[in-house]
Amino acid sequence: MTELSVINIGICGLGTVGQGVWKHVEGARAALESRLGVKLRLHRASVRDLRKKRSVRVPANRLTTDPLAVATDPDVHLVCELIGGTTIAREVTLAALRLGKTVVSANKALLCAHGPEIFAAARQHGGHFFFEASVAGGIPIIKALREGLVANRFGLIYGILNGTCNYILTRMEREGLSYPEILAEAKALGYAEADESLDVEGWDTAHKAAILAYLAHGTWVPTKSMLVEGITQLTQADIAYARDNGYAIKLLAVITRDFASDELFVRVHPTLVPRTKVLANVNEVYNGISVTGDVVGETVYIGRGAGQDPTASAVISDIADAIILLRRGNTPLPEPVEHRCPLTPLEHIEGRYYIRMDVKDEPGVLARIATSTAQSQVSIASVLQRPSERAGAATLILTTHTSNEKAIRATLARLRRLSSVLGEPLLLRIGDFTA
Ligand code: NAP
Ligand code: HSE
Repeated sequence: MTELSVINIGICGLGTVGQGVWKHVEGARAALESRLGVKLRLHRASVRDLRKKRSVRVPANRLTTDPLAVATDPDVHLVCELIGGTTIAREVTLAALRLGKTVVSANKALLCAHGPEIFAAARQHGGHFFFEASVAGGIPIIKALREGLVANRFGLIYGILNGTCNYILTRMEREGLSYPEILAEAKALGYAEADESLDVEGWDTAHKAAILAYLAHGTWVPTKSMLVEGITQLTQADIAYARDNGYAIKLLAVITRDFASDELFVRVHPTLVPRTKVLANVNEVYNGISVTGDVVGETVYIGRGAGQDPTASAVISDIADAIILLRRGNTPLPEPVEHRCPLTPLEHIEGRYYIRMDVKDEPGVLARIATSTAQSQVSIASVLQRPSERAGAATLILTTHTSNEKAIRATLARLRRLSSVLGEPLLLRIGDFTA
């Protein structure tokens, strides 16, 4: 046992999440100190702009613009990296770990890009790296996968991992607004990333999916090996189809592992989720994750996935775990066993599909489209024609019988070449996944 009776916490980044951590460590101080048996000291914090107004009161002598000074301060035992991005955040994280310090992070982009380097630095120098807040905000999904479900192998994990997108999709459905109108609100509420394209183009979900895949399977899947599509092309036509046909549209991450072939695949795409599934009814900023283990069966986790308070809750849970570790000595956390799974070939990724496209409203168009799908061995299940906003055009919505990613890509390539197809067709997956 070490003799630490006071834990000095350094907070790099005092924005949405950092201020939440400061506020709730102060608010829950008495209970935390009594449970953990130490005094907590919010020792120092760093920001970019000292003049910016903050919602928490931080004495001027504890604020700096130099995050490395906080991370390497000999008096700081525990560093929270809440800056974001992959440049300064990486320097800060590695500098602290190389001094044997413990780092708590909410930074999924950093972990996804530099996970092996970060874990290696922690191992080599006797520090620790905690990252509960990096996936699904306040839901303790890292702990669940790493500890609660340790008896299991995971054939299927899928979920809503981005609060901003779920907030946008929910409001689009309820209020008929377009996504840029709602995005501004999601930003004001502190849900969106500093670069919001990470949210709406699916990359933030991909970063989180990479972390879950690593925890579940021991393989780091680079985002370039994933299929990643965002929500920017969705319109009210898609939302209306979903509503009228018993679906909700959700941006899902889907992680599948076939234990017979060892193949693993990670994908992120907007999905028509049947209303009968729990996740179809997870709305607003909430995230939901379905984890199917071979021993436990399906488990589902729901909670607020973004914003100051839920994220602070996850960071503080890591702070508590880190303190227990610091006081007990360097007991290692259970880590995934490294394993390099081959990627599932696209023809093995099966599902049903939805294609929406604007077409010239003239004779023979349907026949040409049917020929294109048939040439790719894709069988049409339903066709719906709606008026289009384009003059002389109609909106066609097709759904398919079960096909696969390779065949549907070939279909889209053929459709794009037809002169009667106007603009880019939109593809959605129908989410009737089973483990
Ligand atoms: P944020 O509000 O933009 O805060 C970032 C903080 O870092 C600010 O205090 C900023 O200083 C400081 N900072 C930015 N660039 C800096 C630089 N070059 N040098 C020094 N300081 C710099 O971001 P956030 O929403 O709190 O997110 C922080 C991290 O948590 C990110 O990794 C994010 O992905 C993750 N996360 C966020 C949420 C959420 O709901 N917001 C949820 C889960 C995880 P100023 O305040 O002076 O500008
Ligand atoms: N921008 C992220 C989201 C923050 O909306 O989910 C939480 O990771």
